[in-house]
Amino acid sequence: MAVAFIGLGAIGAPMAAHLAKPGPLVVWNRTRAKSRDFASKYGATAVETPREAAAAADVVITCLPTSRQVEELLSGADGLLQGLRPGALFLDCTSGDPGASRRIAGVLGERGVAFADAPVSGGVSGAVAGTLTVMVGADQETFERARRVVQAFGQRIEHVGPVGAGHAVKAINNALLDVNVLAVGEALAALVKAGVPARAALNVVNASSGRSFVTEVLVPERVLNGAWPRTFRLALLDKDVEIARSFAHDAGVAAPLIDLTGSLFTAARAQLGEEADHVEAIKLIEQSAGIEIRG
Ligand SMILES: NC(=O)c1ccc[n+]([C@@H]2O[C@H](COP(=O)([O-])OP(=O)(O)OC[C@H]3O[C@@H](n4cnc5c(N)ncnc54)[C@H](OP(=O)(O)O)[C@@H]3O)[C@@H](O)[C@H]2O)c1
Repeated sequence: MAVAFIGLGAIGAPMAAHLAKPGPLVVWNRTRAKSRDFASKYGATAVETPREAAAAADVVITCLPTSRQVEELLSGADGLLQGLRPGALFLDCTSGDPGASRRIAGVLGERGVAFADAPVSGGVSGAVAGTLTVMVGADQETFERARRVVQAFGQRIEHVGPVGAGHAVKAINNALLDVNVLAVGEALAALVKAGVPARAALNVVNASSGRSFVTEVLVPERVLNGAWPRTFRLALLDKDVEIARSFAHDAGVAAPLIDLTGSLFTAARAQLGEEADHVEAIKLIEQSAGIEIRG
């Protein structure tokens, strides 16, 4: 089974590396130097256009910032659509938009190409370890085909509903992450400013009901030590919470907490820029409080 992987970014590259082992794997990346380096490191073939990548594959996987880039790469003379073969499977691992995915599935369906949205969670470390969670939106038959492919980098593979459902679950999960990042930042800033050592406060929270992935992993490994690594861009999380906002509103659910978090993340993105990591939102809380959460 030949696979084409499009988008060798922070999480795409380690996902693609798992697919290179069984091979054959064809890769395309906007910045060609990355696809060439990847190809020589992992024994894949780097091609010059998305069309060439699709033409060489039974399965095409995209992992791009948003659904907009997926739709852009599908179109045009050198686009994926021109290369995709009838009977192929298209998996979009982008954290994308449910409506866009339904649109893409419709276009591909007319050409006999099956589609599943298959976004992932677990971060870059999960991608490197091959332990990602993959949430798949597809019909049952397409899900079974998708599962055999994504198990190369996924550990928990969940069929969450029809096309678009994977992206909806992913956006909501990330909205919960946003809420947690801001809430934990505010809470620890208040405690530190009042004189409580951050490490001691965190020890208590992590043995109590206020704990979360943010308190158990992100703050100890990135904030307390001042490391602030850049693994998941804040801009991408801002995009995710916007998708979650629209999804909740379209579903007829008032979501004031998600609305507020979205506004705060959009403001943080404007201040910190496109390359900042999502955890750096806590830096803004530190600055406004005039303290640093270290320990
Ligand atoms: N990083 C994480 O921890 C994580 C976790 C879960 C889900 N995700 C999701 O996975 C997706 C990819 O994230 P990432 O962290 O890998 O992003 P990233 O590091 O910013 O990489 C984005 C990739 O998309 C390519 N790209 C950007 N704009 C493009 C365009 N206009 N045309 C063609 N290619 C374009 C980039 O190419 P260049 O190399 O040329 O820039 C790069 O290969 C996003 O939807 C994100 O929300 C990320």
